[in-house]
Order: sequence, then C-alpha cells, then structure tokens
Amino acid sequence: MNDSYGRTIHYLRISLTDRCNLRCVYCMPADARFAPSAHLLSDAELVRLVRLAASVGFDRVRLTGGEPTVHPRLVQLVGAMAQIPGMQEIALTTNALQLEKLAEPLARAGLKRVNISLDSLDAERFARMTRGGNLDQVWRGILAAERAGLTPIKLNAVIVRGYNENDLADLARLTLEHAWAMRFIEMMPLGSIADFQMDAVVPVAEMRARIEATLGALEPLAWDGHDPARMYRLRGGRGTLGFISSVTEPFCAGCERMRLSADGKLRLCLLRDAEVDLLTPLRAGATDAELGALIADGIRAKPWGHGLAQREIAGSRIMSQIGG
Ligand code: 5AD
Ligand code: SF4
Repeated sequence: MNDSYGRTIHYLRISLTDRCNLRCVYCMPADARFAPSAHLLSDAELVRLVRLAASVGFDRVRLTGGEPTVHPRLVQLVGAMAQIPGMQEIALTTNALQLEKLAEPLARAGLKRVNISLDSLDAERFARMTRGGNLDQVWRGILAAERAGLTPIKLNAVIVRGYNENDLADLARLTLEHAWAMRFIEMMPLGSIADFQMDAVVPVAEMRARIEATLGALEPLAWDGHDPARMYRLRGGRGTLGFISSVTEPFCAGCERMRLSADGKLRLCLLRDAEVDLLTPLRAGATDAELGALIADGIRAKPWGHGLAQREIAGSRIMSQIGG
C-alpha cells in the first residue's frame, strides 16, 4: 500500500520488548525503566496484528527491541510469523549475547537474517559503550549466526564521540577477511537522552574520512534507492561498508517502513511522535476489518520526514522502546 507521498510501505519493524540485557549509551539512560507487562501485546495479539499488517501489504518483518532475544518465546513467535501468508522475510536485530544458543533454532523456525550491534573490537571500550557487554560472547554469537546461515551478516556500529570514533578503521578492516556488511550509523537523538546524543554525534562524512585516512580510498557501490545505508567497499575486501546518515543527510524519500511497539502502537516515523494506538481497540474487541483499516489509516498518515534539521526532536520514547 502507498502512503500519501507515493512511497510503498511494506516493511514492518516490530519491537518485541523494551527490555534489554545491555544499556548502550546511545540507546538508553543507565537507569532505564521498563513498561509493565500488562501493557504489552500478548503473543496471540501480536501475531494477529502481523497477520493483519500482511493483509494490507506488509511482506517483510524485522524483530527488534529493546533486545528481542530476551523475549522468552522468540523462537515460537518467529515460527508463527513465518507461517503468515504473504510474509516473505523475517529478520532480527540483536546484540548477539544469546545468539550462540539461539541462532540454530531461530534459523529452523524460519528466520532469514540478523543484524548485530558491534560498536568496538576492544573489549574494554565495548563494555564501556554497552555498560557491561562481553565482547567475546557477542563474537561467539556472530559466528553462530553465520554457521546457522543467517546471512548476509550485517553488523551495526553507532559511532559516539568520546567512545568509539577511534574504532572505525578496525571495524572497517573486518570486511577484508569476512563477507559481512559493516554499517556505521550516525547517532540519532530521541527522548530523555537527546542532548547527549546531539552533542556526541559523528557525521558520516567524518567517519568515511577517518577510515580512508587509515585504509585508503573507499570504492562506492550501487544504491537501490531504499537502503538507508550508502555502500562502499575496501579495495580487495570480501564484505561491504555502509554509512547511515539519518542526521546529516536524511533518506526519508526512500522510506518503506513503519514500526509496531511492544505496547501495540503503530509508530509512523522513527523520529516523530505520531502513533496509532492498536492495543486499545484490539482489547475493546475490534474486528479484523476494523484493525486492518486502522493500520491502513496509519500508512496514509505517515509523515514525509523528520524534523531534526529544525531541531524538532521526538520526545515520547527512547530508542529501546522503538527498536531502531
Ligand atoms: N542512534 C542510532 N541508532 C541507534 N540504535 C540504538 N540507539 C541508536 C541511536 N541513538 C541502533 C543500534 C542497534 C539498534 C537496535 O538500534 O545500531 O543495533
Ligand atoms: Fe540494548 Fe540494543 Fe539498546 Fe544496546 S542498542 S541497549 S543492545 S536495545
């Protein structure tokens, strides 16, 4: 289905939970608080909404969080979603802490691909940035995902000034040896930690310059018109480098996505507060037709772009409640 600007909206990102087993500095405050579970969609409610989303044209789903692997029934949910008619791809964004044991069962349940957060290859800096994450455990999760065929593996690094801007070249170098897509992301401001996020943002132009200063010129690759990442490769590299410039060079014209939060709200744009409440009508007994119509209304009401350039910052949620 098309939105009012002619963009085809067919990619749904679902935040399964706002909880996480890490506290990354770019994502949440150290003392983050989480929603009570009575306010969250049950498994049956969620699968019903995804089926209705499929009926209005969504054919790709990405499960995010918080951290989706802390959901106790993730494998069963993936299995249920993979059965939905019209659903072509289920993918996962994760910090990989649980992937060593989950990669294989997830692949068997129908998961196609994973994006994994990897912000540094230095164990101490990684722990500082994630407020306690264990880099070895993440590394084992990445290798398990590759063995399970959850490929192509995409790795996400949010670059934060004062934390990991000196890790750019080391992370980029991974693509010499591995056929992985390493993606560097500008930190976006959201909710209560927006001031820190605005102050410590590193523009992608600077990221590229830092990598080129160490590893030589990047070779640009073709762009499909939708991928938020602009793609490059290192000379002789097996993998690719992507740069996601949400803040300095927005890519809203190619947007094909909407988000569903764990508390049952359809979020129309990551960086704007506009949401359609699906949970309340669902619990009040709305029919499939009525809920499907609300999802379609959300698509029609999708805003054109975000207002970061005008310093309009979405304040109602932090990133972990939306899912990136
Ligand atoms: N800006 C950009 N990306 C973010 N993520 C989390 N917080 C931010 C932020 N402030 C991304 C991370 C992670 C995914 C869940 O969301 O890359 O991989
Ligand atoms: Fe957790 Fe991912 Fe947010 Fe880090 S970025 S705190 S791993 S949800």
